[in-house]
Amino acid sequence: MLRKVEKYEVEDEIGHGGMATVYRARDTKLDRLVALKIMHPHLRGAAEARARFRREAQSVARLKHARVLEIYDYSGEESDESYIAAELLTGPTLRKWTDEHARSRPRSRRASRSKCVARSRRRTTRASCIAT
Ligand SMILES: Nc1ncnc2c1ncn2[C@@H]1O[C@H](COP(=O)(O)OP(=O)(O)O)[C@@H](O)[C@H]1O
Ligand SMILES: [Mg+2]
Repeated sequence: MLRKVEKYEVEDEIGHGGMATVYRARDTKLDRLVALKIMHPHLRGAAEARARFRREAQSVARLKHARVLEIYDYSGEESDESYIAAELLTGPTLRKWTDEHARSRPRSRRASRSKCVARSRRRTTRASCIAT
């Protein structure tokens, strides 16, 4: 365990972006793993960054969809450390997945990809083609 943030035991870093670092963490009350996104310390004093973090938490929390990650918890803007606890996603990133599939795809199938995407633009129900 790296450290404890309220009821979360922070285990290890899984990613970071411009706003925050994301850790795998355990919710000790519900005894489950979560993704804990903690705002970068140097942004803590910036009211605009804290407000942006709140808007991210609130707007994603309003959504309920199988393809949108679930928000479990948010520290609140007044907290010393702004964090969002969300569903922990596993598996490769989309970039890694597409890189690997592009490499392993035979030439003929790779050539037909553009047609598939073109069709998808007209018929959004063929969205799975875009991801291949
Ligand atoms: N719920 C999650 N489960 C697993 N990994 C995640 C999750 N949320 C974010 N990450 C990882 O952390 C990285 C940074 O998260 P992100 O939300 O993009 O931060 P920022 O808002 O700072 O750009 C992502 O690119 C991804 O690799
Ligand atoms: Mg990002």
